[in-house]
Amino acid sequence: MPHNSPGFLRINSSDANVDLRLISIEEGEDLRQRVLRPGQPDWRFPFLPQAEFFHMGAFHGQQLISVVSLLEEEVVGDSTNGAAAWRLRGMATVPEMQNRGIGGLLLEHGVAEVINRYGSLVWCYGRTSADQFYQSHGFQPHGEIFDIEGAGLHALYIRPLGNGLQRKTRSA
Ligand SMILES: CC(C)(COP(=O)(O)OP(=O)(O)OC[C@H]1O[C@@H](n2cnc3c(N)ncnc32)[C@H](O)[C@@H]1OP(=O)(O)O)[C@@H](O)C(=O)NCCC(=O)NCCS
Repeated sequence: MPHNSPGFLRINSSDANVDLRLISIEEGEDLRQRVLRPGQPDWRFPFLPQAEFFHMGAFHGQQLISVVSLLEEEVVGDSTNGAAAWRLRGMATVPEMQNRGIGGLLLEHGVAEVINRYGSLVWCYGRTSADQFYQSHGFQPHGEIFDIEGAGLHALYIRPLGNGLQRKTRSA
């Protein structure tokens, strides 16, 4: 099965009573709009991958309750010394299921999948409102805080994965 196909990875976590699996971008659209841009019903998650990527969802029964996307992308300015960088995007858990460990579980399985795909670093532009969440998962803030209109204050967060892997050689 191709790596980007939904269903490539499936995990059942009895601890949190959720299923984690790869999803399509369309499956996460409604949840993302409601959680990330409430009050902007026409907003769509801007996702134009140039390289490898995957979207993951956490399900409670049939209901999608948390999403995250990861894609191969260098950190802007490439301060990362040739690391095989992956960008985390569109992390969101429905409000009624937040603070139960589900977002963290999904993030950690996303990172594990990045390691499976030879990534050595994960970064994101994280909302400062989620600063504690990112820092508790090993991300460190870098540089200035900046505003994204309609989404609030953000910082660059970087989590080295410590597996010593270098950027894959790309053919010309
Ligand atoms: C940020 C976000 C994705 C986190 O998802 P989540 O499912 O709530 O994540 P978790 O439950 O794993 O972690 C959230 C907090 O709950 C705590 N927690 C985890 N399990 C818990 C439990 N069983 N009981 C109580 N608290 C718990 C965690 O310690 C964590 O605390 P921290 O933020 O201080 O580190 C979610 O809050 C969200 O969607 N926010 C709005 C959108 C957003 O800001 N997205 C990020 C865009 S950059």
